[in-house]
Amino acid sequence: MFHQLVIFIRRYVNLLLRIPMPTLASGQGELKRCPQLLKQNKCANVFIVTDKTLSQLGITKQLTDYLDSEQLSYHVFDEVMPDPTIVLIEKGVTKYKQHQCDSVIALGGGSVMDCAKAIAACVVKNKNITQLSGLFRVRKKLPSFIAIPTTAGTGSEATLVAVVTDPIKKQKFTVIDPCLVPQFAIIDPLLMVGLPAKITAETGIDALTHAVESYIGLHATKQSKTYSIDAIKRIFQYLPLAYKNGDDLTARTEMSLASYFAGIAFTRTSIGYVHAIAHQLGGYYHIPHGLANAVLLPHILDFSYDNAYKKYAEIAYQVGLVAADESEIVAANRFVGTIKALNITLNIQQSFPELKSVDIPILAKRAISEAFCDYPVPKLMPVKTCENLLSELLICR
Ligand SMILES: [Fe+2]
Repeated sequence: MFHQLVIFIRRYVNLLLRIPMPTLASGQGELKRCPQLLKQNKCANVFIVTDKTLSQLGITKQLTDYLDSEQLSYHVFDEVMPDPTIVLIEKGVTKYKQHQCDSVIALGGGSVMDCAKAIAACVVKNKNITQLSGLFRVRKKLPSFIAIPTTAGTGSEATLVAVVTDPIKKQKFTVIDPCLVPQFAIIDPLLMVGLPAKITAETGIDALTHAVESYIGLHATKQSKTYSIDAIKRIFQYLPLAYKNGDDLTARTEMSLASYFAGIAFTRTSIGYVHAIAHQLGGYYHIPHGLANAVLLPHILDFSYDNAYKKYAEIAYQVGLVAADESEIVAANRFVGTIKALNITLNIQQSFPELKSVDIPILAKRAISEAFCDYPVPKLMPVKTCENLLSELLICR
């Protein structure tokens, strides 16, 4: 009863909340728009948050060449690692202040964007990131912020959340505030061409999970469902193509838009158990977020089936998996079957070699606690069921 009440109240708070949308520039070569955007916003010294891989691939240099050509100053902070930690964010804040920057560019995947958002939030609030953990603790405009995703999955370029890792507690926490939605998103598929097939697959399923968890969750609205369906349709069609041929620019473009639209959807509605469990696996074992989601998604769809099959069927009809005259059961089964088949096409593993049975009780407890009241799931999962689900992923190794 308490849970239902909280979910009900949250749904109406969500509806009242004004979540901004980034100004979007999308298309091949759009990276070159950066100097113009910075100048329009009177920014002269930008803090570029990225990672070593992108620097080594020369992608960071592509960006700084554009900035050099317009005599814009910058400082490159390319120390971001997967699952950004409190210490890393503190280091970024110190560098930002030391170099007296006035704006931020996040160039990279989800970890880079989350790290950049967290740094920007700490700078404007003059607080450390743990003090900003939770809902609506920022409430202050960030410096001009341009998000440039180099993977198609996280959707962080459109979301109000930053995920931070506390390595001591082996746990992730979130900073959630509409102020964290980037002011600009530049989606340039040329930046994704070199992405390895495995990362293409895992990040692509992350985007799919955002769209699906948003759609089947109790906070979904007509608007969020439209964005989810758009994303799911593109992912079913183009993720196998992007996986098979990373140079397929049409597939890269469609996947980058799918990721963005899925981000728009879930940032207005929240996520579900796939993410709740994946966050624990990331915090404990550093299992990549997209991979954890990909392995878990079919299991959670099976678990939620009896409460959510009508929504599975709606998705199947709308993305064209079945004809309109097929029964809901046939449609729902086709949807779940399509996701399982997609995992096979993308060579997604079926278990987690890192997972230790001794850790399962704490992982399950934390996952259920993360989701409780915060994630509007279609069916509540007892801790014991979550333990059993994780045990299956251990046994079928
Ligand atoms: Fe995700």
